[in-house]
Amino acid sequence: VATSEATTTFPIPAGVFAETVTAVKHYTDRLFAFRMTRPASFRFRSGEFVMIGLPNAEKPVFRAYSIASPAWDEELEFFSIKVPGGPLTEHLQKIKVGDTVLMRKKPTGTLVHDALLPGKRLFLFSTGTGIAPFASVIRDPETYEKFDQVVLTQTCRQNAELDYGRELVETTRNDELMREFVGDKLLFHASATREGETRGHRVTTLIENGKLFADLGIGPLDPATDRAMICGSMAMLREIEGLLKARGFEEGANNKPGTYVVERAFVD
Ligand code: A2P
Repeated sequence: VATSEATTTFPIPAGVFAETVTAVKHYTDRLFAFRMTRPASFRFRSGEFVMIGLPNAEKPVFRAYSIASPAWDEELEFFSIKVPGGPLTEHLQKIKVGDTVLMRKKPTGTLVHDALLPGKRLFLFSTGTGIAPFASVIRDPETYEKFDQVVLTQTCRQNAELDYGRELVETTRNDELMREFVGDKLLFHASATREGETRGHRVTTLIENGKLFADLGIGPLDPATDRAMICGSMAMLREIEGLLKARGFEEGANNKPGTYVVERAFVD
């Protein structure tokens, strides 16, 4: 078996799980997804993140990664950017099946059902790898027990960057286990802002000019019935928050549920 950079050459630090990579898929030169074994004792809520690292140093670098897989999955899935020269992703992007990935034991995060008040429609707004926590949320049966409609949006620069989300929605709608929960409740709106017909179509623009709702054939945002989760770059979080607040939405937290939640753990 060929060894790769991520092969364990340092002792596993105390208090972390050491898991084995089971699949790697590269989407573009900037994006890839991987799956790994899940510790039997590890529990999490859909939408939470964990700290991930590699056993390639005495003191490994850890970064926050949303768990993209649902709680019922026997493996864990992650969707990652590749940052040239990035302290973790520079190495993580080279992992192969059989390699070891480290994971701190405690999951956490705000993109969870507990932080939202009951509602009718759930909006999941993402840019880039911000779709990862929602890959977990849309594969959780509880999401469809709690909401009549689930609207996932993803904005990326290039069309190919939307492939992970497209595959995700397609497989979720057709999945044997999920199909009966999802039915026709799951809507997906994807736009590439730097090429093709959707050039310039940031989700923020589409909310403001109403095209998001027209494209999907649904009514506008209403804080009385709608709930929202946001995950993406700092600029995007701020802008969507602004749009939601202007419409009367209020931020929620685990100890005080509201009408929208934001994950700030990934912002540089
Ligand atoms: P754009 O191409 O117009 O910059 P990034 O890689 O910079 O994080 O951007 C990922 C995607 O998010 C791009 O499609 C980008 O659009 C979009 N984006 C960047 N800033 C915002 C924002 N403030 N609101 C909505 N979308 C944004």
